[in-house]
Amino acid sequence: MSEFKEKIDKSRLPKHVAIIMDGNGRWAQERGYDRIFGHQNGVTSVRETTEAAAEIGIGYLTLYAFSTENWNRPQSEVDALMELLVDTIEKETPTLNKNNVRLEAIGDLNRMPGSASEKLKRCIKQTEKNTGLTLVLALSYSSRWEITNAVKNICKEVESGRLTIDEITDEVVSRHLTTQSIPDPDLMIRTSGEERISNFLLWQLAYTELYFTKVHWPAFRKENFFQAIYEFQQRERRFGK
Ligand code: IPE
Ligand code: IPE
Ligand code: MG
Repeated sequence: MSEFKEKIDKSRLPKHVAIIMDGNGRWAQERGYDRIFGHQNGVTSVRETTEAAAEIGIGYLTLYAFSTENWNRPQSEVDALMELLVDTIEKETPTLNKNNVRLEAIGDLNRMPGSASEKLKRCIKQTEKNTGLTLVLALSYSSRWEITNAVKNICKEVESGRLTIDEITDEVVSRHLTTQSIPDPDLMIRTSGEERISNFLLWQLAYTELYFTKVHWPAFRKENFFQAIYEFQQRERRFGK
């Protein structure tokens, strides 16, 4: 059945795959349902993709779940998304532990409702010793927010004399991003047919291979993930050389 999984070269796996999970609303509306129904069904795709990544031995999977700009959506949709997030994290914690998956989060978590950030922190704590896949949720995340914060923090270090301007290298910048402990993505997937970055990991995607699929997120399954990995392996990465 799994045609693409068999074809994947296990010795050349991307270390880090990042995904813009897009198309939930359109998937639901095409079926005559409310947008929220699309978000609810997207949870199955998160589960499938996490399992698929763990199965083949991917090191890091980052999922863009909620952007800074998504706070501007109607309050009812924001509330439903936050509730879904909290419920899912709570329900899935035992499965994450069973599969040796460690949860991490990047983004402006202070903007999250208190209950959401507490449950998120609890799950991160309860999975911190796991040594398999690291699942990174990008929540209330935007790259410009992250880079602006990094600039502020670097300036503070310069101001206090801990760092000189000449010591600012690209490594120093990377160390001040929320992804400091995470390697740059090798592959970025966006579902739903949109071909844009939408303020996601602008610095970290410098040499990432981009893969766009028309499949909406709630319809995305393991085989779609394996196909993306397979197609990534057919490309030649040059890194400017
Ligand atoms: C992605 O699906 C989920 C989030 C951004 C939270 P959308 O809600 O953006 O669905 P479309 O793109 O409008 O179909
Ligand atoms: C990007 O999707 C953000 C997430 C998937 C969380 P959007 O649907 O918010 O992005 P645009 O508005 O199409 O660029
Ligand atoms: Mg969208």
